[in-house]
Amino acid sequence: MLDKNKSKSIDYWNSSSGTWKNIAYSPDGNLTVFPSSQIRNGIVISELSKMKKDKKILDIGCADGKLIREMLDAGFTYVKGVDNSPDMISEAKRILKKDYPNLNPDDIFFVADADGIVLDENFDVITAIGLIEYVKDINLFISKVYDLLKHNGIAFIESRNKLFNIFSANEYTSNIKDMPNLIRELDLVKKFSPIQSNSTDAVVLETMSEIANGLSRKDLDSDIKKKSFKKYPFELPQYTPLEFVDLCKEANLKMKEVVYYHCHPFAPRYGIEFPQLFNKIGVLMQPLGYTPIGAIIGSAFVSKIEKC
Ligand SMILES: C[S@@+](CC[C@H](N)C(=O)[O-])C[C@H]1O[C@@H](n2cnc3c(N)ncnc32)[C@H](O)[C@@H]1O
Repeated sequence: MLDKNKSKSIDYWNSSSGTWKNIAYSPDGNLTVFPSSQIRNGIVISELSKMKKDKKILDIGCADGKLIREMLDAGFTYVKGVDNSPDMISEAKRILKKDYPNLNPDDIFFVADADGIVLDENFDVITAIGLIEYVKDINLFISKVYDLLKHNGIAFIESRNKLFNIFSANEYTSNIKDMPNLIRELDLVKKFSPIQSNSTDAVVLETMSEIANGLSRKDLDSDIKKKSFKKYPFELPQYTPLEFVDLCKEANLKMKEVVYYHCHPFAPRYGIEFPQLFNKIGVLMQPLGYTPIGAIIGSAFVSKIEKC
């Protein structure tokens, strides 16, 4: 039986099923909202592009199936998407039928709760993007990922980044209880960045010149109507990369890499005054998410985890 909080969460996501594609994947591209969903999907797709196209992939918390369609567009053919919101899954099936008339949506999408998925197959890759904040028991979920992965399989799990609280200069910073440990962790997690400290200068140089070239006042709208998400009814947890390492260890999984995203040029309070420019700079800063600098300026991360 569903507990009360879970059914409240499902109600929330059911009611967002028709608008998710517009709000999260903002088609007008005017950057009034930071395009987190596109960027994190892009991180996953660029990792997948290094793999063979016959990999079996499961996307948990697939919503209306955007990442699944991006995987199909990238040439992967064995993909499955699961979500516990029946309305999200109906929307995923509806869009797939329209965009991929030769595929049977019932073979691809199904309704299930993340920690209760029962399948008689294992996967080379599991993705869980924008999901773990909503699962009831993170340990149970990570052990489910372990069960569903093949030996040497890879999981990409996305999370809000607790280390960003050091930089954000807001109520999250005021509420930090373990500041010395958080600061220490900034050095400990350097080894998980795909681009290591000794190559950071090249990335910084290139990124800064991209920012300089990419900004122009004429690109900015004078009349910005900010889109906003309906507020989720519960508090959303954050993790540090090392907390993730520990969660993985408990489930016999190994953290390999961390890519940070939603890089902030300044603390968020200043962005309110120039949101479109702020978001545009943040998008251009994404290469820094692959370096250790991302740990403090990126408000979220995608971790690459291996079952070995
Ligand atoms: C923030 S959306 C992310 C959707 C998608 N991964 C994306 O990035 O576009 C979260 C999704 O997770 C689903 N979800 C939340 N809790 C879940 C759970 N316990 N099991 C399965 N899906 C869940 C919601 O229904 C929603 O579609």
